[in-house]
Amino acid sequence: MAVLFSGEEFVRLKADLVLYKCALNNMATRVETLVEEFSNLHESNPIEHVKKRLKSPERIAEKLHKRGCELTAENARTRLTDIAGMRVICSYARDIFSIAKVLSNQPDMKILKQRDYVGTPKASGYRSYHIILEVPIYLTDAVKRLPVEVQIRTQAMDFWAALEHKVRYRFNDEMPDSIIRSLYECSEGIAKLDKEMLNIQDIADLTRQVAPKIHH
Ligand code: GTP
Ligand code: MG
Repeated sequence: MAVLFSGEEFVRLKADLVLYKCALNNMATRVETLVEEFSNLHESNPIEHVKKRLKSPERIAEKLHKRGCELTAENARTRLTDIAGMRVICSYARDIFSIAKVLSNQPDMKILKQRDYVGTPKASGYRSYHIILEVPIYLTDAVKRLPVEVQIRTQAMDFWAALEHKVRYRFNDEMPDSIIRSLYECSEGIAKLDKEMLNIQDIADLTRQVAPKIHH
């Protein structure tokens, strides 16, 4: 059965969601700025693409319910840090850390939590860098700071995560051991692939430095 907020709490939550949307847009602008900088002022852009999503009231209710919390806008605000979420997909594993660093070093940003599932993948094989950043938004008479969860990973890691999510959903969270094992092995394969791709990129970069292309 679907769990729902009461009328009054729903109205409060909807008002909060407007603020989360602004925080998410604010974060998106910061990432777009980096993309513009990398594409136009540097040689190459490490960011392949960006996805953003706001958690729906239904999903917020489900998550609070699962955690045994009362369905209130205040609990959503204080217990959940992934109402506003963004995924930054990059080309090479090395870029993940530089993007995380650049964003978290912005002086008006505050790091609430970071999890390095690239250095230490999850038992499932999930690889990604998670950083929860508090973004300020400037209202007419107040500054609000809201958390935005940023997941940074390579295209290969993203491919794995999307498939694993789909498979997990199909099996209703009860995946057969053989599939769990296969997914884990795929994740290791993907890490190896990411490493080799980075090596090739480094070699190409070095070669270019040693023998620059001649333009006619
Ligand atoms: P959530 O309550 O799910 O937000 O988890 P958490 O607060 O323990 O944080 P965690 O960093 O573990 O995961 C946050 C998000 O990362 C999830 O909502 C998923 O989007 C993603 N994630 C984490 N683990 C996995 C995994 O094993 N597979 C996939 N496909 N995604 C994962
Ligand atoms: Mg989440």
